[in-house]
Amino acid sequence: MTKRILITGASSGIGREAALALAGKGHELLLLGRREDALASLIDECREGTAVPFDLGDIEGIPGLVSSLRADGRYPVLVNSAGIGGFGLAAELDWAVVEQQIRINQLAPMRLTQAMLPWMLEAGGGQILNVLSIAATSVLAGCSAYGTSKAALLMFGKVVSAEYRRKGIKVTNLMPGATDTPIWDGSEGGPDRSQMIPSDVVGATIANVIERPHTHNMDELVLMPTFGIL
Ligand SMILES: NC(=O)c1ccc[n+]([C@@H]2O[C@H](COP(=O)([O-])OP(=O)(O)OC[C@H]3O[C@@H](n4cnc5c(N)ncnc54)[C@H](OP(=O)(O)O)[C@@H]3O)[C@@H](O)[C@H]2O)c1
Repeated sequence: MTKRILITGASSGIGREAALALAGKGHELLLLGRREDALASLIDECREGTAVPFDLGDIEGIPGLVSSLRADGRYPVLVNSAGIGGFGLAAELDWAVVEQQIRINQLAPMRLTQAMLPWMLEAGGGQILNVLSIAATSVLAGCSAYGTSKAALLMFGKVVSAEYRRKGIKVTNLMPGATDTPIWDGSEGGPDRSQMIPSDVVGATIANVIERPHTHNMDELVLMPTFGIL
């Protein structure tokens, strides 16, 4: 069955690389982000795909969005890659940034999952890949809100897997360490970008997980820079 793959965060970084790695393989790619110009240039590069311009801050709008993307007779796949950073000591974090991290990194993927599950169940199966972070399980100073959002989504993914895997729903929790993407632009004094995981490696890993046979599932995957936490 043709896979209909919704990739959030497709306009940049890891999501963009996942789209490139999945292009030309007979899937239907639904590429979500806010920046329409970036989605258009990705579609040019992929030579396929449908732009889904959407602000995931609009949590209420997610069920309607999913209804508009649903196509019966397809195997639905959700790649939750959209995410934002925002680091600093807990007392110094801008509260608006904290709320936005919880909204985009945690609530939006949860709502997308919830909205897509009925479609997956009717299709006889489906796949969800959450791009989390090593911050979901490692205690990293400066990452209180970010780590919380990722740890919460990790637990959500595990519970969804426990609830639905016998109905054919495959959930993968991918935890990359520092990856060289535009998320690091403007963070001078941060980790050495040349030591980070190249973003196309993470994109290829996502494609590999999605294209594995149905005989098994990659439940959890930690992908680290060679030197570990940078
Ligand atoms: N890079 C790393 O070191 C690293 C490590 C571990 C995990 N991660 C995770 O990997 C994921 C991808 O990050 P990245 O490094 O690829 O970052 P990136 O290059 O900055 O890409 C972030 C993506 O999220 C989308 N996004 C942000 N806010 C959005 C909103 N309100 N509505 C819709 N889309 C939104 C952006 O699209 P628009 O701006 O077009 O909306 C963009 O496509 C994130 O979840 C991040 O936490 C990154």
